[in-house]
Amino acid sequence: MKFGHFDDDAREYVITTPRTPLPWINYLGSEAFFSLVSHTAGGYSFYKDAKLRRITRYRYNNVPADSNGRYYYIKEGSTIWNPGWQPTQTELDFYECRHGLGYSIITGKKNGLAARLELFVPVGDNCEIDRLVLTNESDVPKSFTVFSYVEFCLWNAVDDSTNFQRNFSTGEVEVEGSTIYHKTEYRERRDHYALFTVNTPIDGFDTSRDAFLGAWRSNANPEVVENGRCTNSVAHGWAPVGVHQVNVTLQPGESRSLIFVLGYIENPEDEKWAAPGVINKTRAQAMAARYATDAQVDAALARLHAHWNNLLSTYAVRSSDEKLDRMVNIWNQYQCMVTFNMSRSASYYESGTGRGMGFRDSCQDLLGFVHLIPARARERILDIAATQFPDGSAYHQYQPLTKKGNMDIGSGFNDDPLWLIAAVYAYLGETGDYSILDEPVDFDNDHSLAQPLLEHLRRSFGYLRTHKGPHGLPLIGRADWNDCLNLNCFSDTPGESFQTTGPSEGPVAESVFIAGMYVKYGNEFAEILDSTAHTDEAAAVRAEVAEMEHTVLTAGWDGSWFRRAYDAYGHVVGGQECEEGQIFIEPQGMCVMAGIGVNTGEAVTALQSVKDKLDTKYGIVLLQPAYTKYHLELGEISSYPPGYKENAGIFCHNNPWVSCAETVVGHGDRAFEIYKKTCPAYIEDISEIHRTEPYVYSQMVAGCDAATFGEAKNSWLTGTAAWTFVDVSQYILGIQPTLAG
Ligand code: BGC
Ligand code: NOJ
Repeated sequence: MKFGHFDDDAREYVITTPRTPLPWINYLGSEAFFSLVSHTAGGYSFYKDAKLRRITRYRYNNVPADSNGRYYYIKEGSTIWNPGWQPTQTELDFYECRHGLGYSIITGKKNGLAARLELFVPVGDNCEIDRLVLTNESDVPKSFTVFSYVEFCLWNAVDDSTNFQRNFSTGEVEVEGSTIYHKTEYRERRDHYALFTVNTPIDGFDTSRDAFLGAWRSNANPEVVENGRCTNSVAHGWAPVGVHQVNVTLQPGESRSLIFVLGYIENPEDEKWAAPGVINKTRAQAMAARYATDAQVDAALARLHAHWNNLLSTYAVRSSDEKLDRMVNIWNQYQCMVTFNMSRSASYYESGTGRGMGFRDSCQDLLGFVHLIPARARERILDIAATQFPDGSAYHQYQPLTKKGNMDIGSGFNDDPLWLIAAVYAYLGETGDYSILDEPVDFDNDHSLAQPLLEHLRRSFGYLRTHKGPHGLPLIGRADWNDCLNLNCFSDTPGESFQTTGPSEGPVAESVFIAGMYVKYGNEFAEILDSTAHTDEAAAVRAEVAEMEHTVLTAGWDGSWFRRAYDAYGHVVGGQECEEGQIFIEPQGMCVMAGIGVNTGEAVTALQSVKDKLDTKYGIVLLQPAYTKYHLELGEISSYPPGYKENAGIFCHNNPWVSCAETVVGHGDRAFEIYKKTCPAYIEDISEIHRTEPYVYSQMVAGCDAATFGEAKNSWLTGTAAWTFVDVSQYILGIQPTLAG
């Protein structure tokens, strides 16, 4: 079943009912001001950092789902409705949401009145524009009232949702003309405020949520809207909101547009005040003036379209398969850009308050956007490398605002260093800009330790070269790509972190997956060395790689597939002798991509085993048989119910590895078959099963052991976007940027 359709000419997904299985969202903004917007106008906005500079409030895991956003209420007679259906859920005569590249258009119609809401963040500005176009499609004059509504967040999203003893007393606003200013904490340490304005004189306002909603009500039935009249409330503490009232009369066929701007302003310390206690509004007024007319908004929209046209013109395909073209030319690349902007911070499954930027995540994301924005890829590589430790290991995460490594999860994820080589190789292949290798880059963000980037790669490889276990395979540390394979953790206490409990430096537990990476990225490193005239060093690296290849084909080979690991007792993980978890997907994809066993037959055998043992109609599951009990020596992986997440879910990120691997052994058709199984456009017809957005990848789809086989979770922010783009563009369609051209 479908809940909409693709419009490829417009490069939009058109949702035709508000009753989708889950909220289906889009992202607005690509520089500093960002908004998440669902198909019913739910979501929130933030400036740069979804945790520290949250502009509007959102309640995750709320009921009903997704019930806060930028809402526009229309009251005509006794009928109250929203163009996006939520939050009143008044039945509409027509509903449509078009999610496009950096904008969304939501249209609702009721009783001959059409309301079209266009939402976007203009290129180069720190605001969201919501243009509401109202058209009287009936043959009688209409008089009605429009109420806008946003709920402000008191900036720090964690503090905002926990520290009520303070926050119920700090809220402050100012209202001047048609503009509502949210200025909580501006009196003391903040240099920023938010504004919410509309380009017309207003008939009233509210800034106190209690006054707007009324006692014991919700935004589904605000008292003010029911009464048809704002109270001009000024918030003191509690929950500041922005509400405008605009009374409208339209003749038959007449249209009127209202342009709302939700903006973020920073003032230098000495320009904070216009008068004691009165904020300096100069920059806010200038912002409002930039979007006061339809012509200005049209021009800003045109700039946004030009921005995306330009980005998506770099790589395009025209084939006989419209679904392939649609994914390659539009949605896959769009998702790569969103993932670049957000990393894993803010989605409907990532609260924006959790993780920083992941070292491995960011390196892999880069594979999907380096061709779109090489200059920003360069900057990103240098930022990531600067968080590396002098011994070549890495902080697992760093903060986008400070660009410093953080100790939240520490280090010791031994795959991390090798991903840096992958990123740099991709950058060099795409751009040929070897100057990046000479850039001095800090270690551990300490300038005194700076070394050329090439030295960082040397230490990345060196870290793995010097951290091998009893079989000569790389030590796994806290975990490798699979965060949940915690072979040195042994956690038996509820609530403990699976990743940071236990000795990360375990001297026994080894990863065959990292061994595959060592070969693949070791070879890439050797190529980089060759092209920079380090021929002897390149030969030494290749000798190391050859030895590892041999180790993988002996200690890492199980007879019909590659083993996954050795645990802290030296027991095999991912082999026939295991009761559960006999075969894993990751080493099959990575080792074959690395070329291991391609000439000697193991590669084809391993991929056949994947097909026989892991493949399902919705994609390849991560492992089989699923773990049914908690294995202390394996960690988080066995904590998930069978079929979910890393425990035998279809973890979409590593399906493309197997697809790439199939092309390496010459099985192009099989590669494409795998590609299609998880590819959104090809499974649009089962949206009622898949449930997440049919235009982007999700992190995971429930595997065949799960009760909800085929149901996806965690859409948008996943390494799947980058890796499927690598798969389809480089391996399936075959355009491979190499150092030679
Ligand atoms: C795991 C999480 C883990 C996360 C962070 C996920 O795939 O299932 O439990 O915290 O990765 O990297
Ligand atoms: C999500 C994490 O962001 C990523 O780094 C990891 O590789 C996967 N989970 C698999 O565990």
